[in-house]
Amino acid sequence: MEETRWKEKNQYLGLTEDGRRVRLLDQSQLPNREVWLELEEQEELAEAIRTLRVRGAPAIGVFAAYALYVLARRLADRAPVEAAFRTRLREWAAGLAATRPTAVNLRWALERMLARADRTAGPPEQIVQVLERECRAIHREDGEMCRRIAEHGLTLVGEGDGILTHCNAGALAASRYGTALGPILLGQERGKKLRVFADETRPLLQGARLTAWELARAGVEVTLICDNMASMVMKNGWVQACFVGCDRVAANGDTANKIGTSGLAVLARYYNVPFYVLGPTSTIDLDCPTGADIPIEERDGEEIRSLWYQEPMAPAGVRCWDPAFDVTDHSLISAIVTEGGICRPPFGESLRELVSREKGDAP
Ligand code: MRU
Repeated sequence: MEETRWKEKNQYLGLTEDGRRVRLLDQSQLPNREVWLELEEQEELAEAIRTLRVRGAPAIGVFAAYALYVLARRLADRAPVEAAFRTRLREWAAGLAATRPTAVNLRWALERMLARADRTAGPPEQIVQVLERECRAIHREDGEMCRRIAEHGLTLVGEGDGILTHCNAGALAASRYGTALGPILLGQERGKKLRVFADETRPLLQGARLTAWELARAGVEVTLICDNMASMVMKNGWVQACFVGCDRVAANGDTANKIGTSGLAVLARYYNVPFYVLGPTSTIDLDCPTGADIPIEERDGEEIRSLWYQEPMAPAGVRCWDPAFDVTDHSLISAIVTEGGICRPPFGESLRELVSREKGDAP
């Protein structure tokens, strides 16, 4: 019964009823098993991010905020000295932030939690109450942002259009509608039918395991393809737009997203298909001048050599390179769709304007 309520809300992440643990649908087990986890220990919380039990830039930010709150609450129960409590909070935040380097939302959410704690004078129990409100607010706001991103994105496509997407940027990766899948899911609710081609997304198969799962449950027409089939789909004229998510947008519009995204953008330019990046403003990092300044996570080569196979599909010990993300050059991006509106080139100007407008310090 409770499970049904969570699923109906497309809510795959939150706090347990007693607020003492983080509850999440383990994405690493989908689509074959729907396993819900309840986590409270520092190491298991960090492991959940590292091993992609929770993944997707906004979702790991929300998860980390909840994780920090849960850890803080447990410590406060032991009546610690205030200075030691504050030091511990910083250490946990640093540990969680280091689990995945590319998505800026993770750092953003943790910094927001720490700033809230810093502004609160008072004993640990009081700080914990404030942190609970803050992590719940981060989650709620993420859902609202996704809704607004979906509204803006929906204006970019017409009835019956084909959309190509890469990785998973749906409700699992963010809240409610997700980002890149938002216009598709919102369109579905409103009777605007879109046809989706989902890249399987090697090596971790987020497209096959997660996007196909989410869209099929929502009743959206989805066709799964291998990553190397995207060119043919575009050549055949089956897609009118590409929608992808983002892990970090640099000040000049260069965008880091799942490995394979930049190749898709090159193809889209060749075949004249608009290439749209969708994400919340918390993904824009104006302190990062260009894509060259975005740290790219590298993962274990076993993901390529043997994961998913009954037996290894590469010679033992063969050298592998397994970057988790790549950077799409801003010149290949048609628009960046955020909750605050649609940014068009030149991105250096449009992103700066957007961020200051969202912060409320526009002239
Ligand atoms: O390694 P992952 O699965 O966390 O990568 C996720 C992506 O690349 C998403 O497209 C991005 O985080 C945006 S999610 C709304």
